[in-house]
Amino acid sequence: MGMKWTEEQSKVITLRDRNILVSAAAGSGKTAVLVQRILSKIMDPDRPVDIDRLLIMTFTRAAAGEMKERISNSIDQALYENPDNEHLQRQAALIHNAQITTIDGFCSYIIRNYFHMVELDPGYRTAEEGELKLLQEDVMKDLLEEAYEKADPKFLSLVECYASGKSDDEIRDMVYKLYQAAMSHPYPEEWLEECMEVYRVQTIEELRETSWIQLLWETLDEKLDQAEALTESARKICNEPDGPYFYDEALVDDLNFWREVRRCRENKDYDKVADFPDA
Ligand SMILES: Nc1ncnc2c1ncn2[C@@H]1O[C@H](COP(=O)(O)OP(=O)(O)O)[C@@H](O)[C@H]1O
Ligand SMILES: [Mg+2]
Repeated sequence: MGMKWTEEQSKVITLRDRNILVSAAAGSGKTAVLVQRILSKIMDPDRPVDIDRLLIMTFTRAAAGEMKERISNSIDQALYENPDNEHLQRQAALIHNAQITTIDGFCSYIIRNYFHMVELDPGYRTAEEGELKLLQEDVMKDLLEEAYEKADPKFLSLVECYASGKSDDEIRDMVYKLYQAAMSHPYPEEWLEECMEVYRVQTIEELRETSWIQLLWETLDEKLDQAEALTESARKICNEPDGPYFYDEALVDDLNFWREVRRCRENKDYDKVADFPDA
């Protein structure tokens, strides 16, 4: 106690009724300031708040534990100085149920208390990572078996295009990747729908405007830059004294070819670029 706060720290501690974002280097006193801010709220002479009315969230269990301990110590210290303060006595009891927790911890607290609203079995529990993996593999096995049985031509052509050889590991990986990406969005199914939207084009014109075609063009630009630069430096080597001059003619051909491709690309002559033989 008796810490001398800097001016900025005091501001963070006493500002009220607005959102505050505090960003500062490690060890600069963020946690200390946050603890003080919490204490000043629960010990506010005019508007004292009960500690279990605050939601205090951290990224790690260690940080939540540290936070709880620091707040608890400060309440004990304040109680030591004011042993008859009933509000403080109550805080010392309430802190055991206060929401000083990780994000995960808070989410599971919500689910535990409101499982009926999301139609969850009250006997639910959180699965371990390994357990989840096994479950996912079971689902994947059933999913693929079902798909092979149905033999939808679209599915078969997916397998044809993406699964090399006898294994369908590539298909599995693709589904897992899509699943993981989708699950990192708040509305996974909507996100997947949006992804498909990009491929739902009716006309060639629409196709040319899609973001993934634009990406292909950008990739082509990069490759052309590289090819041209490499060919130029190969020509330089050929033209050095005693260099392998006889390759130069072929290199000039290559260079002309790159430039031809680039001209078509600059004129946005999509069909012609597509028709170029693989170089
Ligand atoms: N104004 C200050 N004067 C003296 N010590 C301070 C001050 N602000 C913070 N500290 C101390 O610096 C140390 C690191 O603070 P902490 O809040 O853990 O930093 P952070 O959370 O930003 O990493 C703690 O021991 C804290 O008590
Ligand atoms: Mg900290």
